[in-house]
Amino acid sequence: MGSGIAEVAASSGHTVVLRSRSQSAADAMVAGLEKSLNRQVEKGKRTESERDQVLSRVSATTDLADLADCDLVIESVVEDLAVKKHLFTELDRTCGAATILASNTSTLPVVELAMETGRPDKVCGIHFFNPAPVMTLVEIVRPITASPETMAAALAFAETCGKEPVEVKDQAGFIVNALLFPYLNNAVRLLEQGVASKEGIDAAMKGGCGFPMGPFALLDLVGLDTSLAILDALYDEFRDPNYAAVPLLRRMVSAELYGRKSGEGFYDYHKR
Ligand code: CAA
Repeated sequence: MGSGIAEVAASSGHTVVLRSRSQSAADAMVAGLEKSLNRQVEKGKRTESERDQVLSRVSATTDLADLADCDLVIESVVEDLAVKKHLFTELDRTCGAATILASNTSTLPVVELAMETGRPDKVCGIHFFNPAPVMTLVEIVRPITASPETMAAALAFAETCGKEPVEVKDQAGFIVNALLFPYLNNAVRLLEQGVASKEGIDAAMKGGCGFPMGPFALLDLVGLDTSLAILDALYDEFRDPNYAAVPLLRRMVSAELYGRKSGEGFYDYHKR
């Protein structure tokens, strides 16, 4: 997600500092970005010089201090509130007073991140969708602590990136995941009940509803670990049985079958 967001921002003319905990992970994000740009050059969507210009706007670092002068920081670490809270405390200590701190969280309460900082008015959610360079929506999440100026700046940023932002209240799942995840969870339930094969269910939702990909291909794209974290956060907030993760999904995460990122989820990607 980090490299996708960096691609979107750098392609729109923003200077981007990609920060990761290890140099190898930071380098891997830049490599991912380069691969995506190379694909676009091969397809004739970009020239080589455009690709080089985008890459020249991106630097990778492990040092949080390199973010100090950024106007906007978009956090996109694991969907774990404790990890994100710790990072927001550090970002608040490191970044200049004017920096807006945003989270790309899919479901977690942004207000709790805001309250970790001494600048809760300058914290909001900027939620991209997978794959970030392709999906046009960005949810701009408004915690009750955010100032109108912060919200306006986040909306303006998304627009400069060519996205179609929608403002949304800081409530678990925001718009898309609150609607999407009961559907994905119920697809796993159908599979568990033996109603149809995963291939059959995927084909049905593509052919019958015109969805670009079926629920199991989408779960593998999003990541089963991320999907489980989203369902758990939704269940935590609403206690609605529709959000209670189906046991098969939880077992697959325990088995580290995370989807594309681990090479196998509902489908096997090792041979593709
Ligand atoms: N990075 C950059 N570009 C990508 C890409 C990636 N990871 N994956 C695909 N693309 C581009 C391709 O290069 C191609 O571009 P052109 O049309 O310019 O050539 C275009 O997307 C279409 O790709 P493909 O032809 O390879 O494949 P496709 O037509 O099957 O589309 C897809 C792939 C865009 C992923 C499409 O299947 C789709 O839209 N799927 C639904 C995705 C979705 O629902 N996302 C939301 C997930 S929920 C979420 O993200 C929220 C959360 O918090 C978890």
